[in-house]
Amino acid sequence: MNLATLAPSAGAALPADHPLVDGRTATAPLIRALRGDRPERLPVWFMRQAGRSLPEYREVRQGIGMLDSCLRPDLASEITLQPVRRHGVDAGIFFSDIMVPLKLAGVGVDIAPGVGPVMDQPYRTADDVERLVAATLDDDALAPVREAVALTVAELGTTPLIGFGGAPFTLAAYLVEGRPSRDHLAARTMMHGAPETWSRLVSWTADITGAFLRAQVEAGASAVQLFDSWAGSLSQADYTGRVAGASARALAHVAGLGVPAIHFGTGTGHLLGAMRDVLASAGVAKHAVGVDYRTPLDEAAEALPGVPLQGNVDPALLAAPWPVLEAHVRDVVARGAAAPAHVLNLGHGVPPETDPAVLTRVVELAHSL
Ligand code: CP3
Repeated sequence: MNLATLAPSAGAALPADHPLVDGRTATAPLIRALRGDRPERLPVWFMRQAGRSLPEYREVRQGIGMLDSCLRPDLASEITLQPVRRHGVDAGIFFSDIMVPLKLAGVGVDIAPGVGPVMDQPYRTADDVERLVAATLDDDALAPVREAVALTVAELGTTPLIGFGGAPFTLAAYLVEGRPSRDHLAARTMMHGAPETWSRLVSWTADITGAFLRAQVEAGASAVQLFDSWAGSLSQADYTGRVAGASARALAHVAGLGVPAIHFGTGTGHLLGAMRDVLASAGVAKHAVGVDYRTPLDEAAEALPGVPLQGNVDPALLAAPWPVLEAHVRDVVARGAAAPAHVLNLGHGVPPETDPAVLTRVVELAHSL
């Protein structure tokens, strides 16, 4: 089943005052690398750079719930800008969450501190899923997202903003389980035990996340990243047969807008080719694959000829003595040379206890290489 062909066709091009169109970000190192080029400066940013590792983040978040803070445009914008100011990274990542579009569609979801996304109920039966997919995400509901992005890009100048969304499988794993889980058993049971229901569920999550991505791009994001954090729990056959079409459908919402896209998952060494194929079948002309810390970049480059790569400093090493971390970063960059282009990043998110000064030092090192 090719769900991508069912997706709404990508519409008009970007507005003339979009940062990618009016010249602000078109030649930024990140955008050049995602287009397959080798800019003079190695671009670097960090997944979860906006968040708990920064004291200025903890300060502004005091007393405000996670999802509430995402929906206050001035606050979301400020938090997005904090790591750009502090570290001099080559991109901002929009401060939001993969669960935000579900919340905006009226789904009962909260993010419990130290736990993660928790739903008002698990969505397990055909009836549960029918009730869920009756919810729609109206363009009006996305206004706080558009507003926060617009405020942010007005401050970022020539630094590109990356928009993002959760991939259909990762979102569906939370919906079916009702909360974070390790093996995503209930979701994997549904995809085989009730394939029609599964297909309804992932098509709906694809369109919800696609609308979220599109709103960010239209409001000024110069690239997007699709996070399929839990895809690594799937066999290659389940990924290609039951999930990949929905991920392509999500990306098809922005493919016609001409922004580059990054596709990232963890534990996905066996899925890298399939994840690249999703980008291609969605019609995303310029794209990169994000590699987690388990697969060395030179191996990934061999599996993905001609594809720009992003990654993959092991987050655990951020807490190691500097000479150890420095040697590791240099090794990652050396292996990344096997790809046509490389965006330096971590192999997963910044751990909350990370010393922010270490991140700044990694940026300085990357820019000196
Ligand atoms: O800096 C950035 O990367 C931008 C913002 C961002 C957040 N979440 C903010 C956040 C992004 C890109 C995400 C994506 C996200 N959210 C993913 C995919 C990436 C990944 O890590 O694999 C997933 C699976 C989620 C769902 C989610 N939200 C989890 C698992 C958690 C952690 C729960 C916890 O407390 O341990 C969240 C909460 C969350 N999202 C925080 C932040 C800064 C922490 C909130 C806090 O300050 O308490």
